[in-house]
Amino acid sequence: MSIKQSIKNITPEPLWNELRGVKEQISGGKARRIQSRRFMRWVSRNSSTDKARIETRLAFGIHRLEKGLSHVQFRDGFGRGVLAEISRRMSLLEKADSEYRKNPLYLQGLAVLHEYQRRHEADGYDLSSIKSMFPEHIWNAACKYRLEDHAVKAGSFMMNASSKIDNLNKGFVELAEHRYSVREYSSDAVSQKVLDKVYAVAMKTPSVCNRQATRVYQITDSEKIERALKIQGGFGGYAMPPVLLLVTSDIRAFMNSNERNEPFVDGGLFSMSLLYALEAYGLAACPLNAMFSLSQDQATRKLLNIPDYEMPIMYITVGGFPNSVPVCCSVRRSPESIVTRI
Ligand SMILES: Cc1cc2nc3c(=O)[nH]c(=O)nc-3n(C[C@H](O)[C@H](O)[C@H](O)COP(=O)(O)O)c2cc1C
Repeated sequence: MSIKQSIKNITPEPLWNELRGVKEQISGGKARRIQSRRFMRWVSRNSSTDKARIETRLAFGIHRLEKGLSHVQFRDGFGRGVLAEISRRMSLLEKADSEYRKNPLYLQGLAVLHEYQRRHEADGYDLSSIKSMFPEHIWNAACKYRLEDHAVKAGSFMMNASSKIDNLNKGFVELAEHRYSVREYSSDAVSQKVLDKVYAVAMKTPSVCNRQATRVYQITDSEKIERALKIQGGFGGYAMPPVLLLVTSDIRAFMNSNERNEPFVDGGLFSMSLLYALEAYGLAACPLNAMFSLSQDQATRKLLNIPDYEMPIMYITVGGFPNSVPVCCSVRRSPESIVTRI
């Protein structure tokens, strides 16, 4: 018999359970601390000079510029702050990556800048002050950027509602390849019947031990939507969506500290099912982060009456596809660049 088993045999059960609880608290606290330290050790910082972490901030900048380019109401001269950011990260990437001319993020930077230049030239807008924010060779490379030469796209394109009519009959690969985040919606009301079908599909999402911890708040009160998105802060400049979903995870479905990340895993999987089901039923959608500060978390809980035992996972805006709408390209890395075969 093991020493542990011998001690267990002579220890009263309530005391044994108490001791197990204390052990779990200590090891859980350690695991959380190590996880948090690892996260903070490796996140991309403003001062980061290595390739991976410069790429993170360049990708963030490119996406912000793409969002500006994909607004229905295009605003000439927008994005000076983000353009300065892109200029800085591209210059840093030149130093961090000797192969920067072939770097997909660097090429995306040129491509998105190219679209920015082209759209402003078409409007006759003087870009000289923006040009001065870039090293000359980057600005000129962007001017000359041709998709045919590099096969890396970035920026925005127009999506038509007509391409979505037959979505329910499409196979999964085609459906997934054509799903994009859409941030502006038609004026049509969203049918509750269709939303209920969407939820029914998403219920088939796998979850740890089938515990099904995910909860969904469907918000249609326009005032609440506006207040929630104001607190969220990542949907500025767009008209309010007719429907806003908040996906949360019920922590009561989990049992110990080792499961602390599972609410996000299960909630994330469920959210992706929702996104595909929305796409299949011909509804436009955009996931929005719930990376709340403490005050955002408190304000959101109060506004939407979210109980303490639930964790916000993400929002999803939902609406009908407008006849045509500009969307961000959001180019992906190649599979070879992320898959390690062991
Ligand atoms: C968890 C999560 C949070 C996101 N947060 C925001 C957000 O706050 N604002 C926004 O406009 N888009 C947000 N997005 C949408 C992403 O920008 C978008 O999914 C990404 O660029 C890929 O583009 P695609 O969805 O068109 O394929 C978020 C996406 C995810 C998955």
